[in-house]
Amino acid sequence: MDHIKRHVFVCINQRQPGHPMGCCQSKGSIDLIQALGEAVTTSELAANTAVAGATCLGPCTLGPNVVVYPEGVWYQGVKKEDIPEIVEEHLTNGNPVERLRLKMPGPID
Ligand code: FES
Repeated sequence: MDHIKRHVFVCINQRQPGHPMGCCQSKGSIDLIQALGEAVTTSELAANTAVAGATCLGPCTLGPNVVVYPEGVWYQGVKKEDIPEIVEEHLTNGNPVERLRLKMPGPID
């Protein structure tokens, strides 16, 4: 797997309806990971970018959350409509999408 340059993890954690922490899956993260996976696998990124689902990443109330390594860039509140921008600006051009970056101190600090 040394050809993989980036890993993108999408939280697909699911909790019971009504749980006070909520969960990313109830906010559309399955659609998100499917759209992201399709965008990556149908582009030149397929050769060096991996997309995977993750269990809870931590900041549940801000989800759906996504983290990109090796940069350690966290995104919050990501919507399916944001995928083309993340793919183009970050995964292709190397520029994180500032408007979507996680805005609270958390596990990245
Ligand atoms: S459920 Fe997604 S970050 Fe916790």
